[in-house]
Amino acid sequence: MNESITVRKMQFEFSDDMELVFIEHDPELSFLFLGTWMLLPYLEPYLMRTMRKALTEHQDALGDSNLVHDMQQFCSQEGQHYQQHAKANEIILSIMPEPSRQKMMSLLEKIEAEYKSFSAEQPLAWNLAYAEGFEAYTAAGARTQMELRVFDYMTNPIRDLMLWHIMEELEHRTVAFDAYEALGRGYLYRLRNGIWAQKHFIGLGRELTAIMLEAFPELVAAHQDAESKQVRERHRKVYYKRTMKNLIGIYMPWYSPRKLNMPPMYEEAREEYDNRALSIAG
Ligand SMILES: [Fe+2]
Ligand SMILES: [Fe+2]
Repeated sequence: MNESITVRKMQFEFSDDMELVFIEHDPELSFLFLGTWMLLPYLEPYLMRTMRKALTEHQDALGDSNLVHDMQQFCSQEGQHYQQHAKANEIILSIMPEPSRQKMMSLLEKIEAEYKSFSAEQPLAWNLAYAEGFEAYTAAGARTQMELRVFDYMTNPIRDLMLWHIMEELEHRTVAFDAYEALGRGYLYRLRNGIWAQKHFIGLGRELTAIMLEAFPELVAAHQDAESKQVRERHRKVYYKRTMKNLIGIYMPWYSPRKLNMPPMYEEAREEYDNRALSIAG
């Protein structure tokens, strides 16, 4: 029996003076996240289109299983995620100086068009493999972040946005996998296209991060003292090591998100955001 996938409507307050270097002493890693998250309002709707197409075109194969309900909840959660991220992105874009802002806007337009072309032109199995490649990668990252409690050295409101989001990513960790298993083309096809998806997503993230770094050089410069460098090097070393360990598992033929152990912080975060949600649906 799956645990429940809960849709929480949150109301985070983002302001134009919020702390963009939300990871203590680490502007580069903060911008890697903020930059990459710029694409979520295009990527997450693409995942939703994929699930909805699967639900519409394969009603018979899916029947009225738990998976159908989980796929619907997956879409509702992702819908909340990208809307909250869009609010934060809008603020970041509003304080971004030119020409970086223009550069970011045109890259985002290109990204939106590309994800729409995947929905229109690629076979459903390919889009499901992309979804699972992305979700498996995100779940490995989310487990790392919770296992190491990296949120202890982060600042709100971005901390909240990230913790709420990755907790729900873990809540729906089995959905893309199960949808692919039901309608996809086996392990090798999933592996090949899942890795392609991860490279694609990471590549776009790098381009977006470069624009963030170029847009706010004074924030990067403010954290170049010896103490800041020492703290971030210590954090990153542990972080990358654990990420590698968690990532390797997703490429194994026996991988199943159902077998993953959830860190204690997972239940803590579920409870916290249950209590803070404006409304809730499980
Ligand atoms: Fe999400
Ligand atoms: Fe997700």
